[in-house]
Amino acid sequence: MAPVKAAILGFGTVGQGIYTIVNERKQQLEKTIGSPIEIAAILVRDLDKTRPETPGVLITDRFEEILAIPDLKVVFEAIVGEEPARTYLEQAIAAGCHIITANKVMYAKAAPALERQAKEQGTGVGYEATVAGGVPVIKTIGNLNLTNEVTGIQGILNGTSNFILTKMRKESCTFDDALKEAQELGYAEADPTNDVSGFDAFCKLMILSGLSFGLQPDWEDVPMEGIDSLSLEEVTDADRQGLRYRHIADVRRGEDGTIQASVGPVLIGPDHPLYGIDGVDNAVAIETAYAGTLTVIGPGAGMLPTASVMVEDAAVLLREHATFRELVTK
Ligand code: NAP
Ligand code: HSE
Repeated sequence: MAPVKAAILGFGTVGQGIYTIVNERKQQLEKTIGSPIEIAAILVRDLDKTRPETPGVLITDRFEEILAIPDLKVVFEAIVGEEPARTYLEQAIAAGCHIITANKVMYAKAAPALERQAKEQGTGVGYEATVAGGVPVIKTIGNLNLTNEVTGIQGILNGTSNFILTKMRKESCTFDDALKEAQELGYAEADPTNDVSGFDAFCKLMILSGLSFGLQPDWEDVPMEGIDSLSLEEVTDADRQGLRYRHIADVRRGEDGTIQASVGPVLIGPDHPLYGIDGVDNAVAIETAYAGTLTVIGPGAGMLPTASVMVEDAAVLLREHATFRELVTK
């Protein structure tokens, strides 16, 4: 079968991870979807930057060149911020592509419009990587809301914040040194303001709210604080008392039907389910009507965990949208 043509927007930590996994997993993907995936093009901002070799791939800073690729079927988006990412994805859907995004700042606002557009166009949207990196929380919640009901969610949703708090507590590392290490490991955003101010976790929480309850609270009504308000003394003093600061995002439907949410550091004891979550790990405790609380835990950031769920999203969409001929020739 002819390969499925895909493009990657952004070739930083996540974009490079997608390229690696698509190439390392060629045969497995071919078995799953009936044809191999070929990365035909990569969009970058700065053409002069030194990057890993990508033989035979068009590298461009012009999105029009990506859209002009004949039979382009999948667009992976791993750039930063609301625009131009949203506009690129709208254009990709209009051109008949499935879109897969890791960009939570964009998706927290654009989810309803992009999902509606994709439905009308008969294409798919994958956004597992927007929340909790390599942890399949979107699929888990999606599968719990068909007959069961999600009633509340509480989670550690920013890997950088959890990594910094862990380094401060365990090694008395300064905030600045721990953040520098999180940047070197590819966990933090290029501009880490959103990580440490709580806005990154806030956007992820809004995406989970939309998925779980079909709506988000008014953004202005959600109290938001980051770990940048905590000192090393506060973190180590708490540890001496057997307590830990965790950056916790919480959303639930109130008794009056309204959605209540909050994002910020919380001091918790050993009996709290998020007490033992260390390092870059994220954890999401999903409270349900019939199955009690289910908790998913795993790497909340990083190149390969994040890229792996994006390639999984692509495989699922391509399998779901395979034509009858593609299915019978598998
Ligand atoms: P990154 O390492 O900073 O890479 C960003 C890439 O996007 C760079 O290649 C940059 O191009 C390109 N880019 C940025 N703005 C662009 C524009 N306007 N047009 C074209 N290209 C543009 O970031 P990252 O860590 O890979 O993260 C990418 C996205 O995934 C972000 O939305 C992030 O929040 C999300 N995410 C990241 C992780 C993680 O662990 N890192 C996990 C989950 C989700 P140049 O290289 O030319 O500057
Ligand atoms: N900067 C983000 C974090 C990446 O640290 O959680 C994953 O979304």
